[in-house]
Amino acid sequence: MKPVKWSNYLSAALAFVLVALFMVAPSPTYAEVDKSEEVEQGLRLVSPLLAERRVKDLRSHIQLMFESPHAVASDPRTPAGRADEFGGNFCAACHGDGFKHFFKVGEDVSASTVNDTCLNCHSGGDRMHWSGGPHEMGDMACVDCHSMHNKNERLLRTTTQLELCSSCHLERRADFNRPYHHPVKEGQMVCTDCHNPHGTVTPTLLRGSDVNETCYGCHAEHRGPFLWDHEPVREACINCHNPHGSVNTNMLVSRPAQLCQSCHITDTSHPADVMDGSTAGAMGNFDAMQVGRGCVNCHSQVHGSNHPGGAFFRK
Ligand code: HEC
Ligand code: HEC
Ligand code: HEC
Ligand code: HEC
Ligand code: HEC
Ligand code: HEC
Ligand code: HEC
Ligand code: HEC
Ligand code: HEC
Repeated sequence: MKPVKWSNYLSAALAFVLVALFMVAPSPTYAEVDKSEEVEQGLRLVSPLLAERRVKDLRSHIQLMFESPHAVASDPRTPAGRADEFGGNFCAACHGDGFKHFFKVGEDVSASTVNDTCLNCHSGGDRMHWSGGPHEMGDMACVDCHSMHNKNERLLRTTTQLELCSSCHLERRADFNRPYHHPVKEGQMVCTDCHNPHGTVTPTLLRGSDVNETCYGCHAEHRGPFLWDHEPVREACINCHNPHGSVNTNMLVSRPAQLCQSCHITDTSHPADVMDGSTAGAMGNFDAMQVGRGCVNCHSQVHGSNHPGGAFFRK
């Protein structure tokens, strides 16, 4: 049964019950458990949908709302703090008058109605660029990531961001499981250190104005400018690094020698003293480029050099 149908003929009854229940604005000082029990019984009376849910589930669900930041009545910005504007019933700040909907996106409410409801209070700060961002364009709703009757940090649906985001971005779960990765699954970093999922000026939701500005936030030593700059570094760190994770050390996009050779053809132009074949092995000194850190064995200042003689990034 579509919630819309029962809500039509039950709205009168619902309004009556709710006015009775919310005459007194919730206060953190009295028995909140009793309160959620009372609310639960009232709701059950008017909604066949909710009546199907086990008593314990529904009551504890409502109880979580009373423990959330939205129910802090002493804060005049919260739904509870503004209960007067909603006829004394702060639930209406989100569910609408007479519980118009229960946030079943696509069933009893549209994504844009949900977003408008939340953005009424949360349009500033990180949400400045929500409109037109990839998640908004993907028809997502705030409640795809957030759950309001909940205890998780930032009211997220899941306890970790890795779990939340990679439920849709499956490849990210694989990336962060590679041997070399930013310590996200170790709990030392989160996706939102680099991304703002609400929307940004960049198409890939980066926190910084571009890739490099995002990286400099933590790796300031690579910011430069250097006396001798390496062009691909200034252009974008992701020319050489996969920011999520890689099978190569230092999260390089390919093995060190291959990486450099993707842009530099060294067998012809590399100085003869390096390529003179004096080292054992089928390829002579070329082996020095293949072992360990490869080219970086000699070109150790690959991010740029401030040394007067550092044009070739060797010092
Ligand atoms: C009537 C205004 C109002 C409405 C409507 C509202 N919120 Fe809030 N919300 C607040 C206030 C105020 C806080 C507490 C903010 C703080 O402490 O900085 C808050 C807290 C939050 C937090 C937790 C912030 C934190 O730091 O832990 C999230 C997430 C959030 N709201 C998301 C939503 C979503 C999603 C919706 C829509 C389903 C919504 N809010 C509807 C006012 C509102
Ligand atoms: C793609 C997932 C996703 C969507 C969609 C989303 N959020 Fe968030 N939101 C997050 C994550 C992750 C955090 C934690 C970020 C942090 O701690 O900086 C967060 C944090 C917040 C916070 C608390 C921190 C702050 O920035 O003030 C608020 C409030 C919030 N979101 C509101 C909203 C609203 C309103 C919408 C819908 C317009 C929304 N969110 C949509 C993932 C999402
Ligand atoms: C800040 C917005 C907000 C406020 C305030 C709020 N809710 Fe909710 N409510 C939601 C969202 C969003 C959902 C969808 C599930 C979720 O996010 O946890 C929901 C789900 C529910 C459900 C579950 C419906 C189902 O089918 O599972 C019930 C019941 C409910 N709310 C009752 C209440 C009551 C009662 C109050 C007031 C005490 C209240 N809500 C206050 C946002 C809110
Ligand atoms: C419910 C599914 C869903 C969840 C959860 C989700 N996303 Fe998305 N995300 C999408 C969709 C859909 C798009 C737009 C289509 C696309 O470009 O892949 C998108 C786009 C993006 C983009 C831009 C991709 C591009 O190629 O431009 C980034 C970055 C991103 N999401 C990061 C995140 C982060 C970080 C989180 C967790 C906080 C998250 N997403 C959670 C569905 C989701
Ligand atoms: C260290 C910074 C950093 C962290 C942490 C990070 N990302 Fe990214 N992410 C980036 C950069 C940089 C790009 C590439 C942007 C570009 O190409 O312009 C990117 C691109 C993306 C894209 C779009 C491109 C694609 O390949 O599909 C998605 C989706 C994404 N990240 C999701 C996530 C998720 C989910 C997490 C957490 C599990 C996460 N990211 C953590 C920096 C980061
Ligand atoms: C929020 C802080 C933060 C941001 C932003 C950040 N990093 Fe990191 N980065 C770290 C931390 C923490 C480590 C792990 C250091 C360690 O393990 O000692 C790390 C390690 C690395 C490493 C070495 C990995 C290894 O295998 O040892 C590389 C390369 C790197 N980051 C590149 C980047 C790039 C490229 C960006 C931008 C897309 C970026 N980082 C953005 C915090 C950050
Ligand atoms: C031309 C390829 C290339 C580009 C572009 C590049 N790096 Fe690197 N990066 C490397 C290589 C190669 C290593 C391994 C160095 C070694 O083994 O000593 C490395 C190592 C690192 C490390 C770990 C060791 C250290 O120096 O702390 C960090 C962090 C790092 N890079 C950050 C960045 C950032 C930030 C950017 C963008 C400003 C960037 N890289 C751009 C090739 C590159
Ligand atoms: C994405 C392409 C790209 C990658 C990958 C790359 N470089 Fe470069 N490199 C350049 C460009 C462009 C220049 C400057 C153009 C020029 O003068 O030839 C340059 C300049 C140099 C120079 C100075 C030489 C000169 O003629 O000015 C050295 C040395 C160098 N790179 C070494 C490396 C090493 C070592 C690696 C691997 C860690 C590497 N490069 C990876 C593009 C790249
Ligand atoms: C055994 C040390 C050594 C190794 C290993 C090495 N180089 Fe060099 N490279 C040099 C020296 C020495 C020069 C000459 C620069 C100078 O005169 O200071 C040079 C110069 C260069 C130049 C600038 C001249 C030119 O050919 O355009 C590039 C580019 C370069 N190397 C790339 C690489 C790449 C790519 C690798 C890995 C495949 C690599 N080098 C490995 C020592 C080395």
